Amino acid sequence: MVNTDEYVVTPWEVKGNVNYDKLIQEFGTYPITDKIMNKIEKYTKNLHPLLKRKIFFSHRDLDWILKKYELGEKFFLYTGRGPSGQTHLGHLVPWMFTKYLQDTFNVDLYFQITDDEKFLSNSSFSLNKTKNFAYDNILDIIALGFDPKKTFIFLNTEYSKTLYKIAINIAKHITFSTAKSVFGFANHTNIGMSFFPALQAAPCFLPSVKENKNIPCLIPAAIDQDPYWRGIARAVAPKLGYYKPAQIHSKFMPSLSTEGKMSASDPNTAIFTTDAPEIVERKIMQSFTGGRDTIKEQRELGGTPEICPVYHYYEFLFEMNDTKLTEIYNDCRQGHLLCGDNKFNLTEKINLFLTNHQKRREKALNKVEDFILRD
Ligand code: TYM
Repeated sequence: MVNTDEYVVTPWEVKGNVNYDKLIQEFGTYPITDKIMNKIEKYTKNLHPLLKRKIFFSHRDLDWILKKYELGEKFFLYTGRGPSGQTHLGHLVPWMFTKYLQDTFNVDLYFQITDDEKFLSNSSFSLNKTKNFAYDNILDIIALGFDPKKTFIFLNTEYSKTLYKIAINIAKHITFSTAKSVFGFANHTNIGMSFFPALQAAPCFLPSVKENKNIPCLIPAAIDQDPYWRGIARAVAPKLGYYKPAQIHSKFMPSLSTEGKMSASDPNTAIFTTDAPEIVERKIMQSFTGGRDTIKEQRELGGTPEICPVYHYYEFLFEMNDTKLTEIYNDCRQGHLLCGDNKFNLTEKINLFLTNHQKRREKALNKVEDFILRD
């Protein structure tokens, strides 16, 4: 499906080469303009590379939330994880950006772990299994360095007493026909899944319910989660008397194959945070690239970084220096940089990052209770 216009983006499936400009129109979101970036720059010494590089490319009401902030009304951040396996590098993209937002604006973060969703959507998963994944994934979240005083992580099954009341208030306003058209539910979908969107929408209003006042919410996530906000949370908010949650959407870190996002469902083309150095090396060395068939051709014609996951990994997470990133781009285009060398350098960078991350993960084992919310 390379170089075709066919793609699918839903919370459960991302396929093909996504046309992000078209997606903005289809989903009815807004591009992040220079004006908005300038506003964010006022609060931070350096604009985050994920913003500068337009990896966070789309939003809803981000300008509104910044205006509120300027007027002294603080927002909170809300993001999450569906614990269906190990954390991969793609998940870290919105989470690292969320940490940047927390540090920049000094705000609370609510982090939902949807162990119920993954239990309901995967017939072979027991609740125990998704809970184990949840606590394993939480180590990655803590390892990123979130502030324990301002970060509240919860599993839906362990915080349901609080969440359920908010969720039924939401669910009462969503008809089955809306849920079907937003999420594509069919007659064979179990009824747990048709209720679940109300639970993913619930944290948008959680701090407002807790503090009994309207508090703006900003959700950083990749754009696959958008249907929950567009179809449910934003539709219901005015009916419940709350602000509509704002969003900032990222693109997908690609898989190591020719197309699609990095996803745990294809473990050979995803890099997990627990992968050993030799596994990372094997996966990167076997990766698809934008290179030519032979060294001679590569030298003469140059490669195509635009379609190359190796280049994109530098762009997303592993080369934060803009000048060096441009050098990689140009050297590849002009045939000075061969794919083997580029892969070797990337492997070193990823392994350095993962060695440190894995140490922080170990330390996180003792910190879990500092972050967890339970009823
Ligand atoms: P999940 O576990 O599929 O994904 C967790 C977060 O990672 C993003 N993501 C990616 N970002 C960049 N590149 C990729 N290749 C990539 N793959 C996944 C997702 O967009 C998400 O932000 N139902 C949700 C859990 C959830 C949630 C939320 C997510 C509950 N509440 C609020 C975001 C915001 C899920 O299964 O995410």
